Amino acid sequence: MKIHIIGAGPGAADLITLRGYRLIQEADVVLYADSLVNEELMTDVKPSAEVVKTAGMHLEEMVEMMVNRLQEGKKVVRVHTGDPAVYGAIMEQIGLLKNAGVEIEIVPGVSSVFASAAELQAELTIPDLTQTVILTRAEGRTPVPEFEQLKDLAKHHCTISLFLSATLTKKVVKELMDAGWSKETPVAVVYKATWPDQKIVRSTLEHLDEDMKKNGIRKQAMILAGWALDPSIHEKDYRSKLYDKEFTHGYRRGVKS
Ligand SMILES: C[S@@+](CC[C@H](N)C(=O)[O-])C[C@H]1O[C@@H](n2cnc3c(N)ncnc32)[C@H](O)[C@@H]1O
Repeated sequence: MKIHIIGAGPGAADLITLRGYRLIQEADVVLYADSLVNEELMTDVKPSAEVVKTAGMHLEEMVEMMVNRLQEGKKVVRVHTGDPAVYGAIMEQIGLLKNAGVEIEIVPGVSSVFASAAELQAELTIPDLTQTVILTRAEGRTPVPEFEQLKDLAKHHCTISLFLSATLTKKVVKELMDAGWSKETPVAVVYKATWPDQKIVRSTLEHLDEDMKKNGIRKQAMILAGWALDPSIHEKDYRSKLYDKEFTHGYRRGVKS
């Protein structure tokens, strides 16, 4: 018995992988998180397929359904938003499924962090400016481990990607400022990246909270903070070694200018 856990991508139906889409088409049972996964992905399921929306279900209920259907000899897939590896709550499903003797295969998806960067036409790692991206969330009702507090992570002054934090912008701003970030630091927010009602808000640390309020963004938003998000970064002269004509690497010999 095997189940596929599939990353659906951030929203736009054509941002799922070919493999993920083929598995949905071949499945007898498709469970999907209907709050965030695009319903269009269900257009080409088999006419006999059972399509189950899981937003209103709890973990045990879902796993029981998956195991029952697998025991009936059906092909079952579980579709998650973005990439299942980040904030996908898959490990608790995997634990119960493995206990029931189910094999797991995961198909990656385009995470909202990368879809948002694409919509912003941003590079999150700019040579000589920052070479690190931290994927995290602000602490709200869900606790964040002591050593991962935003103010500590922010001491690296790299690019920070904040999931699940749209209602916590006051806290985000305070923690980044406590870490020494200037109030002019660029912050970009992408609401529902790649959906038809996508909204992009470019702000600074100082104005982030009021800009989020002004635009009515309280959920489904990716917050990207740091100087890599400077809207005029492409006019500045940050260059990688990769395409530097004087730099020799495995595929090209550098030339002296
Ligand atoms: C439960 S997490 C799932 C993340 C998902 N696994 C991913 O890789 O994008 C949900 C959070 O992801 C972010 N998110 C998911 N889809 C998004 C989208 N289309 N645009 C912006 N943010 C999104 C938001 O921060 C949202 O609160």
